[in-house]
Amino acid sequence: MFVLNGPNLNLLGTREPGIYGRETLADVEALCRRTAGPLGLGIDFRQTNHEGVLVDWVQEATGRAGGIVLNAAGYTHTSVALLDALNAFAGPVIEVHVSNVYGREAFRHHSYVSARADGVLCGVGVGGYALALAAIAPLLDAPPADRGART
Ligand code: DQA
Repeated sequence: MFVLNGPNLNLLGTREPGIYGRETLADVEALCRRTAGPLGLGIDFRQTNHEGVLVDWVQEATGRAGGIVLNAAGYTHTSVALLDALNAFAGPVIEVHVSNVYGREAFRHHSYVSARADGVLCGVGVGGYALALAAIAPLLDAPPADRGART
């Protein structure tokens, strides 16, 4: 399982704590590892400030990762290249945002990632990463056509 993080998320904990909270990216990685164990998932947790690196990692996921939990941060709202890379990946994708992007500036209301994501979690703080892992686990063996609404 790839857990991929985009630009400025290395600053979690000190960056705009009123919006993103006090937990660091290391705390988020520890949370993901704690959550993944009981779900039987192995975690490859990464962060980059560079759009092309994020694209490279999404390409690398084919053959290396069953699914992707992705907080593309600012590139969520700008990157056609990232959407193209995600569209070439066959496995499930869950989009995560720490903050409630829909309660913020209008430019954050559009996500290129959402056009491809099987699910989106935002506005529940870093706990959204744990929820994303719980959400993606049952999708790992599901063909794309069976990843829709579940009861
Ligand atoms: C973010 C929301 C984005 O709009 C913003 O650019 C980020 C972080 C979040 O986790 O809330 O960098 O993805």
